Amino acid sequence: MSRFQHTPVLVEEIVKFLDPQPGETFVDATVGLGGHAQALIERLGPDGILIGIDQDEQALRIAHENLSRFEKRIVLVRGNFRNLIQLVQANNGPRNVDGLLFDLGVSSLQLENEARGFSFLHNAPLDMRMDAIDGGNTAADIVNHANFNELVKILKEYGEEPKAESIAKRIIEARRRQPITTTGQLVEIIGGYLGGRIHPATRVFQALRIAANEELQSLQEALPQAVELLNPGGRLAVISFHSLEDRIVKNFFKSQTTGGRIKLLSKKAIAPSWPERKRNPRARSAKLRVAMKI
Ligand SMILES: C[S@@+](CC[C@H](N)C(=O)[O-])C[C@H]1O[C@@H](n2cnc3c(N)ncnc32)[C@H](O)[C@@H]1O
Repeated sequence: MSRFQHTPVLVEEIVKFLDPQPGETFVDATVGLGGHAQALIERLGPDGILIGIDQDEQALRIAHENLSRFEKRIVLVRGNFRNLIQLVQANNGPRNVDGLLFDLGVSSLQLENEARGFSFLHNAPLDMRMDAIDGGNTAADIVNHANFNELVKILKEYGEEPKAESIAKRIIEARRRQPITTTGQLVEIIGGYLGGRIHPATRVFQALRIAANEELQSLQEALPQAVELLNPGGRLAVISFHSLEDRIVKNFFKSQTTGGRIKLLSKKAIAPSWPERKRNPRARSAKLRVAMKI
C-alpha cells in the first residue's frame, strides 16, 4: 500500500447506485489513487474486471501499488477520458461495460504535490497539467500568452471571478516586466488586492487549472461515449466539484432522459452526508448524479 492516500468521496452512495455485481465489467474513468476502484473491485468478485483510467502517470503508479492485490482483475490505463471509447476498447475489446464512474477534478496527491503548481499555498512552477507527459498548455503558457479578452473569459467562465477584468489587467502589466513562471508570482499579482471570505487566489487558480486541462471540454466529449459504452441496464455515476461541471452533467442527463436513452436513478443530485462533510472537507462541494442506460 502506498503512503499516498486520497479519501474517496461518497463511496457508500457510489456502491449503492453503481451496484457492482460479481462478474461484471466496470470502468473507473478517473481512477486517481484507487479509492473508489477498490470498493468496486471488491464487489465485482474473482471474475469481475475493472478498467481504471487516469491521465496522471504519477497517480497511476500509486493506484498500481494500492490495488496490487487485485492485480489480475484490474487494468490500469494512462489516457484522457475524452478518448473513452478508444481507451476502453483497446483494453476490453468491443464488449460493452456494466458500470462507469467519473470522479472529476484533481486528487489530493495533485493538490498537495508542491512541485506541480496546483496550489497557491506552495511556491512552485506554474504548471497545473494533470497530464505532465502529453498535456497541452501549462498555466504559465496561459498567463503569459493569452490576450486580455482571453484571460477575462477564462477568469469569468471557469473561475466565476467578478473582478476578472482588473486581474487580467494586472497579469498583463506584470508579464510586461518579466514572465510569470511561478505560483508565488501569480499569488503576489492577485494578492492583497481583492480581500473577501475566500483566499483571493482560489478562483483564479481554479480557472487556470480548468483551462490548462480543458476540463469542461473533456467532460462534454466523454459523457456521450460513456452512455454508448454501457450495456442496457448499465449504470453511470458522475461526481462533480463545482457548478460548471455539474451543469454539464445535469444538462446531459436531461437530454438523454428526454431522448429515452437513460433513466435517472435519483432525480436530484446527491450530496455527501453531514458526517462525511465534517470528516472530509473536500466532500463539501461534491455532487453525485446517477443514471441507468435503458
Ligand atoms: C478526484 S481524483 C479521483 C480520485 C479517485 N476516485 C480515488 O478514489 O482515488 C480525479 C482524478 O481524475 C484524473 N482526471 C481528471 N480529468 C481527467 C481526464 N480528462 N482524463 C483522465 N483522467 C482525468 C485526475 O488526474 C485525478 O487523478
